[in-house]
Amino acid sequence: MLNDLFEKRRSYRAIEKIDITDDMIKELVVAASKAPSCYNNQPWRFVFVRDEEQLKKLHPALSKGNEWAYNGSLFIAVYADRKSDCLVAGREYFLFDTGMSVMNILLKAVEMDLVVHPIAGYDESKFKEILNIEDKYTLITVIVAGKKANQIPDSFTKEMIDMEKYPSPRKELNEIYSIDKV
Ligand SMILES: Cc1cc2nc3c(=O)[nH]c(=O)nc-3n(C[C@H](O)[C@H](O)[C@H](O)COP(=O)(O)O)c2cc1C
Repeated sequence: MLNDLFEKRRSYRAIEKIDITDDMIKELVVAASKAPSCYNNQPWRFVFVRDEEQLKKLHPALSKGNEWAYNGSLFIAVYADRKSDCLVAGREYFLFDTGMSVMNILLKAVEMDLVVHPIAGYDESKFKEILNIEDKYTLITVIVAGKKANQIPDSFTKEMIDMEKYPSPRKELNEIYSIDKV
């Protein structure tokens, strides 16, 4: 079952609007909250943006190339304070821990038949201003969510069309692991 979710989860860009209910948001937050974290610090914080006016205010703060996200019904702004999580021998864990909570959200959302696509292409300070996120926080990612579109929009480039049709390639497994020693 988990393997099915791994296969089903893809960062599609051809998305359509869908109603986002309070219950849906709650399910995603519960999934996020179950992630492990260093010393159980739970550094992750989320703003679920579903109000159309608020979404429209955020659109100009998306980077060029991310215009496909205008069709998202929900933006999940994921942020964390680096000081709120472990620093172990110089290793900062706030990004790692928040990333694990994001994966929980992604898989839960895919199980709910949503398309979820994390992005890093946005103007952090503009997002933070519009969403009222304090300066001390890092806006780690924005998850764009919607429903999978039946048709690829005419505005998509050939590269974008190919990315819809074919899964992103993965490195050969022998490039990413070894056993007992590197
Ligand atoms: C941290 C992060 C930042 C990303 N930023 C963008 C982005 O700005 N725009 C975009 O279209 N996709 C973005 N992606 C999606 C990746 O391109 C995608 O996850 C990758 O190609 C693998 O494809 P898959 O998610 O379909 O398996 C981002 C993904 C991650 C995890």
